[in-house]
Amino acid sequence: MALEDLSIGPKRPAAASTADTKVTAGRMELKNPVLVASGTFGSGREGSSFIDISKLGGIIVKSMTLQPWKGKPTPRMCETPSGMLNAIGIQNKGVDHFLQEDLPWLLKKNATVVASIAGNTVEEFVRVADKIRTGGRGVAAVEINISCPNLEDRNNMFAHSPKATAEVVTSVKEALKKTMVFPKLSPNVTSLSEIAEAALNAGADGLSLINTVVGMQIDTQTRLPKLAGTYGGLSGPAVHPIAVRAVHEIHRAFPEVPLIGQGGIATADDALQLILAGATAIAVGTANFVDPMAAMKVQQGIALYMERNGVTDMEELIGAVKVEG
Ligand SMILES: Cc1cc2nc3c(=O)[nH]c(=O)nc-3n(C[C@H](O)[C@H](O)[C@H](O)COP(=O)(O)O)c2cc1C
Repeated sequence: MALEDLSIGPKRPAAASTADTKVTAGRMELKNPVLVASGTFGSGREGSSFIDISKLGGIIVKSMTLQPWKGKPTPRMCETPSGMLNAIGIQNKGVDHFLQEDLPWLLKKNATVVASIAGNTVEEFVRVADKIRTGGRGVAAVEINISCPNLEDRNNMFAHSPKATAEVVTSVKEALKKTMVFPKLSPNVTSLSEIAEAALNAGADGLSLINTVVGMQIDTQTRLPKLAGTYGGLSGPAVHPIAVRAVHEIHRAFPEVPLIGQGGIATADDALQLILAGATAIAVGTANFVDPMAAMKVQQGIALYMERNGVTDMEELIGAVKVEG
């Protein structure tokens, strides 16, 4: 089949399909494997004027912290070849706003909600998790955004240290009790498997990967960094091969662990690559800024691929890449 058949360009919307795209990620049942990535779809309100959000596999909401965060100074986004660089700094209205305003609205819309939590100390993560346990009925799972500076470790990202990763995951898991947790790993490490192992030994139910890749761009006229925060996170098609490799590496090391694959998905073909590499579910991120219907089109493209290839169960595709040796 020609790859362009799975493209999601607005001129070529995929045909409706009858293939069953349900997946189970640990104890989480998803209507289909296509979620939207944290920070790229807000809490779903804007997106809901373009798509029926109940039809998404799920919405991973913007990362939330204990108190509202203003984020970093502007400019905090710039375009790059095949991607974008951002240093938003987790601007958000805080966990109380999520619980009082966003969550009830999302549940009323029949959306599957994955809460994303962030913090600068282990205690802050725990306090956000505590609030979700007591006030977050209906949350399907929690993604732990450990790509945050750890104030107790000279601002090193939690996700860059097996010890800090384990501390956050153990504590959040303990606070949440039953809710599934998916720590979100950073690709900016020497050994991703080592961090994954630390997270899993600490009780992670699954893993999300990847978060953005650290980068920098310079305006040659002014000689200033293009972002006020100097460095930012690279996302979009440029990072897709890194995401496919990361998912493949972690699936090979821990084949039983449900993975949410993300990074550079713009088409159904991109999503299918991550699924064949070992992701149980995937999340569309930067592509939402280009086309708010991107996730729906990816979903339709996956169903079409299944139909055309005689695949009746999504599970047949997970990790089905043919790699010798
Ligand atoms: C503008 C922007 C904001 C983001 N905010 C968050 C965030 O709050 N929490 C988080 O875990 N990831 C955040 N991300 C990372 C995405 O969720 C995603 O993991 C990453 O961008 C890779 O996927 P993509 O290439 O499809 O965008 C953000 C990405 C972008 C582009």
